[in-house]
Amino acid sequence: MKENKRNITILLVLILIGMMPSVFAGAAAETPEEVPSFVRFVTAIFGQEPGEPHRFFIFLGRFQPLVLHLPIGMLVVAFFMQAFAIWKKRDDFRFPYCFCLGCAFIFSIIAVVFGSFLAMQNDYNADLINRHGWGGLIFSALVGIAFFYKLSYIRSDHEKVIHKKISLVVMFLALNVMSFVGHDGGSLTHGEEYLFQHAPNFIRVATGREPWKDPNAPIDPELTVYEGLVAPFLDKNCYECHSNAKMKGKLRVDTIEFIQKGGKNEGLIVHGKADDSLFYQLMVTDDEDEIMPPEGMLPQLDRDFIKWWIDTAKNDADLFERRIKDANVPAQFMDINKRKKSKAPAHAKPTETKVEEAKAVVEEKAKEEVAKASEKLAEEMLKPVAGKVDFLKDVAPIFESRCIKCHGEKKQKGEYRMDKAEFAFTAGDSEEAPIVKGDPAASYLVKLIKMTDDDDDVMPPKGGVLTADQIAKIEAWIKAGAEFPADAALQDKSE
Ligand code: HEC
Ligand code: HEC
Repeated sequence: MKENKRNITILLVLILIGMMPSVFAGAAAETPEEVPSFVRFVTAIFGQEPGEPHRFFIFLGRFQPLVLHLPIGMLVVAFFMQAFAIWKKRDDFRFPYCFCLGCAFIFSIIAVVFGSFLAMQNDYNADLINRHGWGGLIFSALVGIAFFYKLSYIRSDHEKVIHKKISLVVMFLALNVMSFVGHDGGSLTHGEEYLFQHAPNFIRVATGREPWKDPNAPIDPELTVYEGLVAPFLDKNCYECHSNAKMKGKLRVDTIEFIQKGGKNEGLIVHGKADDSLFYQLMVTDDEDEIMPPEGMLPQLDRDFIKWWIDTAKNDADLFERRIKDANVPAQFMDINKRKKSKAPAHAKPTETKVEEAKAVVEEKAKEEVAKASEKLAEEMLKPVAGKVDFLKDVAPIFESRCIKCHGEKKQKGEYRMDKAEFAFTAGDSEEAPIVKGDPAASYLVKLIKMTDDDDDVMPPKGGVLTADQIAKIEAWIKAGAEFPADAALQDKSE
C-alpha cells in the first residue's frame, strides 16, 4: 500500500517534470524580452549583470565543455547497468549503479553551473541558450530523481522489478533530454583559444599565450591602424568564421596577406573606395543572406570605421602600415573595440535607445506645450496690451535684469548690443535681424528667448529662461512697433 502511494507520487513528479519545457516555452513566447529567460535567471542568482559577469566566472565557464561529458558518461554506464540487472535478474549491481548515478548527478550540477557562467555573457543566440540552459537543468533534475529514488531503496530488501523499471524510464528520459541539450550545446561552442581567453595571466603565459589585453586600455599611438584598431575589430567580429578554425567563403582575415589575397573573390578592398569594396559592401548590404557578419548588421559606428579605414587609404601601405599617430583617426573610432561584442544588438543597447527615444519624444512634447502656452499667452496679452505696452515700464526692466550684462556697454556677447536704440536693431554675429518692428515671429531675439534650457543658443544662456509673461511682453512690444526711445540707455541691473 505504502509503496503504491510512493510510486504514484513519483509518477506525478515525472509528469510535472515532463511538462516543464512546455511551461518555459510558453513563457518565452509570451514575453519576447531581449535577455533570454535563462540568462536573467542565472545572473539574478549569482548577482551579476547580463553581459557583464566577472571575468573569473567566464574563466570557470569555459571549462564546462570538459566537465559536461562526465555526467553523460556516468549516466550511460548506470543506464546499461540497470538494464543488465533487470535482464539477468541480478541484484548485486546496486552499489556501483548508485555510485555512478550519484557522480552523474554531482557533475551534471557542476556542468549546469559552469554553463550558466558562460550564459551570463549573454552573447549567444537567445533561443539556443534558453533551450540549452533550461534543458541542462531538467537533465540534472532527472538524474537527481533517479539517484535519490534509487538511494531510498538501496538498503531495503523491498526493491522490486517495478522500481528498477521506473529508474530505467527516468534515466531514459534524461538521456533523451540530453541528446537535445547536447545538440544545442554543440551549436553554441567555439574553437580552442576560447578555453584560455579569459584565463588568469599566469595560466595564459604558462600555456604559451600572450598576457590578457584589456580592450579598454588606451591604445598605443605607435601601433599601426591595422594592429591597434582593425585587427582587434576583425578578431571580435570576423575571426570566428574567417581564421584558421573556420574559413567561410574560403576567406581568412587574420593576417594582412590573407586579407590581400581575398576569398572566393579577389581584391576585396579597393583603395580609397569603401563603397566599391566587397569587404565593406557586405557589411552594409540590405541582403540578409549576404550580410557580414551573418548574424546581423554591425552597429553604425563599426561600419563607419571600416568605411573610414578604406576611404582614407590610397594604397596598401596606408591600409596596413599607417601609424595611429599619423593617421588622424577620428576620436570616435579610437574606442571601436571597447564596446561589447555587437552581436547583442537585440539586448542591452536597443532598450537604452528606446528609453532615449521615449525621453526625446516626451521632451519634444514638453517643448511644444511650452511654445504653445507662451504663444497663447502672447496673443492674449497682445490684445489688451498691444497699444499700451510701455517699453520703459514693461520691457526695459526685463532687458536690464537679464540681458544688458552681456549685451550692454561693457560686453557685447555675440557682437550684439541692446542697451541703446542705435544698436538694438543691428544684427550681431548671426547677421540675423534681432528685432523686426511689427513682426515678433521674424525677430531672431524672440526666437532665442523662446528656446528651452537644453538648447545651446537659448537667451539668456544662464540663470533660467524668461517667464512666459516676460516673453509675451517682449513680443507684444515688437508687434506694436518696437518703440525704443532714442535717449534711453539701459543699465545692467542683474544681481
Ligand atoms: C558566423 C560566421 C561568419 C562571420 C562571423 C563572418 N562571416 Fe564573412 N562569410 C561567412 C560565410 C558563410 C561566407 C560565405 C558566403 C558565401 O559564400 O555565400 C562569408 C563570406 C565573406 C566574404 C566574401 C568572401 C569572398 O571572397 O567572396 C567577405 C568579404 C566576408 N565574409 C567578410 C566578413 C567580415 C569583414 C566579417 C566581420 C565583420 C565577417 N565576414 C564575419 C561567415 C561569416
Ligand atoms: C551670460 C551672458 C548673456 C546674457 C545674460 C544674455 N546673452 Fe544673449 N548672447 C550671449 C552670447 C555668448 C551670445 C553669442 C551666442 C553665439 O552665437 O555663440 C549671445 C547672442 C545673443 C543674440 C544673437 C546675436 C547675434 O546676432 O548673433 C541675441 C539676439 C541675444 N543674445 C539676445 C539676448 C537677450 C534678449 C538676452 C536677455 C533676455 C540675452 N541675450 C542675455 C550671452 C548672453
